[in-house]
Amino acid sequence: MLVISADDIRRVFTMRDAIESDREAFVLQTEGKAVLSVRTSFSVEGRGLSSFMPGCVSSFPRIGIKIVSTFPGNVGRNLPAVGATVLLLDPETGLVDCIIEGTELTRLRTGAVSGLATELLANDDAETGALFGTGGQAMSQLEAMLTVKKIREVRIYDAARERIAPFIERSSAMAERMGARLVRAPSPDAAVDGADVITTATTTLSPVFDGGRVKEGAHVNGVGTYEPHKRELDETIMRRAGRVFVDNMEAIMAEAGDILIPMKEGKFKREDIAGELGDLILGRAQGRTSKSQITVMKTVGFATLDIVIAHKIFCKAVEMGIGSDL
Ligand SMILES: NC(=O)c1ccc[n+]([C@@H]2O[C@H](COP(=O)([O-])OP(=O)(O)OC[C@H]3O[C@@H](n4cnc5c(N)ncnc54)[C@H](O)[C@@H]3O)[C@@H](O)[C@H]2O)c1
Repeated sequence: MLVISADDIRRVFTMRDAIESDREAFVLQTEGKAVLSVRTSFSVEGRGLSSFMPGCVSSFPRIGIKIVSTFPGNVGRNLPAVGATVLLLDPETGLVDCIIEGTELTRLRTGAVSGLATELLANDDAETGALFGTGGQAMSQLEAMLTVKKIREVRIYDAARERIAPFIERSSAMAERMGARLVRAPSPDAAVDGADVITTATTTLSPVFDGGRVKEGAHVNGVGTYEPHKRELDETIMRRAGRVFVDNMEAIMAEAGDILIPMKEGKFKREDIAGELGDLILGRAQGRTSKSQITVMKTVGFATLDIVIAHKIFCKAVEMGIGSDL
């Protein structure tokens, strides 16, 4: 059995690899070649919650599962509050043949979802970015944005203002290598005004910026919220957007408050969603139709993204002789 650590993942897989992996995963999902079952969660009272997300990609074939545990008390034990692991099963024997560190894998595949959507939907001359949230997902969201467009400046905003400067400090070298400078945004308005690409990766309950301020032609990635009562994007941006894409329609209709709240209020309709990103890749849905159109991508994540990227990381690790045998 091969054990692949977070460091191993980064040794074998780049953000561009992750974007191409997600592209394939979206196509497999939209073509019905992946089977998922609903997320199953168990809680240990007063301690935390563990969620199990299995999936099967018939074309490889590969069965796998991601396990994510959120135990806030871990912080006091000097352990991560959220921990994730992916297990892959050998398609010949059904036995687990790989254990992959799931937190880094999730960051990579989630950043890559926004990267892919930005590559496909943002205007080619996009040069100013805005990033909301400076937590665990933020660095890979930033890296993805800079991988797909020639962004020169990214405004960074976090509701916990004291987190902005340390994030800029740890991300600046990477951003500079990729041709961009990072700027601390003093307010949500300052982050959004004039931004061509906006990504939200926060734990907020309510919208993080005023959709009325978003410039024409901008592209927005909503990453952070995955519960029906929470949203990062307000109804103004949902209504202003000419094209709204989602990662997985079923999951979005169950989890994405960004869409479900305005739908409940009669301000947005399911028919206003142009399709899944897979539909766009397969040419079944039309992408941006004008330079001034606003585009939105809403993602909540689904297991196919995890299984596909885990399988590809496993194959590359075997090829390069990286990882530890157990
Ligand atoms: N779409 C997906 O597939 C996917 C995958 C992984 C994680 N997530 C979600 O993404 C979100 C971010 O994850 P993380 O690991 O970075 O979380 P985190 O807790 O490490 O960081 C969240 C950050 O958001 C900031 N924040 C909260 N409210 C804000 C607001 N109104 N404006 C600006 N900043 C605000 C917090 O201060 C914090 O710095 C989580 O909700 C997580 O569940 C989504």
